[in-house]
Amino acid sequence: MKLDVVFTPAGLAPADVQGRTVFVVDILRATTTMCAALHHGARAVIPVASTEEALRLAQTIGSDDVLLAGEQNCVRIPGFHLGNSPLEMTETAVRGKTVIMTTTNGTRALLACQGAVAAYPACAGNLSLTGERARSTLESDRDILIVCAGRDGAFSIDDAYCAGRLAIAALGGRKLRRGLNDAALASLDLVRRYGDRWERPLSYSRAGRELVKLGFQSDVADAARMDAYPVLAHFHERRITLAPAVPAAG
Ligand code: MLT
Repeated sequence: MKLDVVFTPAGLAPADVQGRTVFVVDILRATTTMCAALHHGARAVIPVASTEEALRLAQTIGSDDVLLAGEQNCVRIPGFHLGNSPLEMTETAVRGKTVIMTTTNGTRALLACQGAVAAYPACAGNLSLTGERARSTLESDRDILIVCAGRDGAFSIDDAYCAGRLAIAALGGRKLRRGLNDAALASLDLVRRYGDRWERPLSYSRAGRELVKLGFQSDVADAARMDAYPVLAHFHERRITLAPAVPAAG
């Protein structure tokens, strides 16, 4: 049994995710925003790689129930209905809607994980549920890969800390020293360093500091709320929806 962490999806080949159960973390803010949308009744979130692709897909679907959401350089894309803020994903805004979403790092990290047995967006907001799924995956002798979205192809401390929290939940007290890669060990060390206070690594991170500078301090605080969005989200056949109760076989 193996539990691996990668700090960025850059360099992740299709073979790295094939046959594995993957958890994707972009706590500031994409995976938090996706979980907020599903928690508040969105029918699905469809991650796409670019603004152009989002516009094309919205036109193809051609329904009033579609919302465009996302950001470039942390700021809402002109003409889109919503940005990439969990606080914008209110029930009034998203219930019954399909949200087509593009972000700088988070949606790309998810798209890099197509081909996995299952891929679950993870954040503090759904940590307990994703942690349970990760634990049951390991218990059924299946490997886990935690993919951090990172920032511009590089390490980000907010995602790495979240990966560590998820790894601890997955291990559930069991020792798997030889089954952990170096990045997984480093993520666990970050949790030892920061303890259980999400707000510390989030506000110290470059992403957190930039978001505060842009006036999104409430988003950073919201992303630090453990189990605020208790949904098990599942990226399957190009869309993120609520996951089935029983994990996919494989
Ligand atoms: C990302 O995908 O890198 C994030 O969405 C950035 C942000 O929070 O604006």
